Amino acid sequence: MLKTNFLGVELASPLMNASGVHCMSIEELEELANSQAGAFITKTATQLEREGNSKPRYYDTKLGSINSMGLPNKGLDYYLNYVIERQQQGTQLQFLSVTEMSYEENINLLSKIQRSGYQGVTEFNLSCPNVPGKPQIAYDFELTKKLLSEVFTFFTKPLGVKLPPYFDIAHFDEMATILNKFPLTYVNSVNSIGNGLCINIDKEQVVIKPKGGFGGLGGEYIKPTALANVRAFRERLNPNIKIIGTGGVINGKDVFEHILCGADLVQVGTTLHKEGVDVFTRLNEELKVIMKEKGYTSLEQFRGRLKIIE
Ligand code: FUM
Repeated sequence: MLKTNFLGVELASPLMNASGVHCMSIEELEELANSQAGAFITKTATQLEREGNSKPRYYDTKLGSINSMGLPNKGLDYYLNYVIERQQQGTQLQFLSVTEMSYEENINLLSKIQRSGYQGVTEFNLSCPNVPGKPQIAYDFELTKKLLSEVFTFFTKPLGVKLPPYFDIAHFDEMATILNKFPLTYVNSVNSIGNGLCINIDKEQVVIKPKGGFGGLGGEYIKPTALANVRAFRERLNPNIKIIGTGGVINGKDVFEHILCGADLVQVGTTLHKEGVDVFTRLNEELKVIMKEKGYTSLEQFRGRLKIIE
């Protein structure tokens, strides 16, 4: 009932983790691989291992989470070797997430993946809001166009991009026009809503240490923005560019809504962090119940079919 075809691979569920949650170590990745998620993605890797920002750097709130992790990761080789090994074992689809700190470093990182034996999907993270002094790439339209133009002169493997949320129709139009110029496999919308601020009123203090308390928001706060981005890009992107919907998935209804807006796959971040990998079992079951109630037997029957009021 929840079967989803992605890049010719049949997945048992449309659900995945969002990069950054439960995917730092091979132990965590193996737990995802053995869970009811249809696929999984690694923590965004940089060429070299990074410690990330100082702690506390992740905080759960009633309506979601705030984080300023600062891209802690074990370095590209750690994740690349792992996904190559899995590929050699012929196992389920896995996604490799990557980014770097400068234009040249991004080109070098992707060149290394191109030269490697990895044939799977790479997610190019253009949207981390948490590295001090490094603005989110995809808020700079010219830079995004230049970077992707150069990447696609040499990169021939499946590539998706992780985008930040946009909040203006003109920005949806402009970014979609840029993305449509490239042979992208998918677009992932959205990363956290950057640079929010959560406060502990008793202490009259911010809840995370980096950047004076500013951090990316996830969870319930961001669902309407995430759905708007999924819908807006589905309406604007070439049909061959798939969409991964991320943001605000707490229950099966939220998964249904992402798919109704056009998502091919749906990622879970904050709720996975709160509940652990069993969340995928719960969400799959809740989605199936909603589908049964509505008389749907496959995701295709409602994917992208959101109605508007005429
Ligand atoms: O700060 C972080 O590691 C988060 C990365 C991201 O949101 O892409």
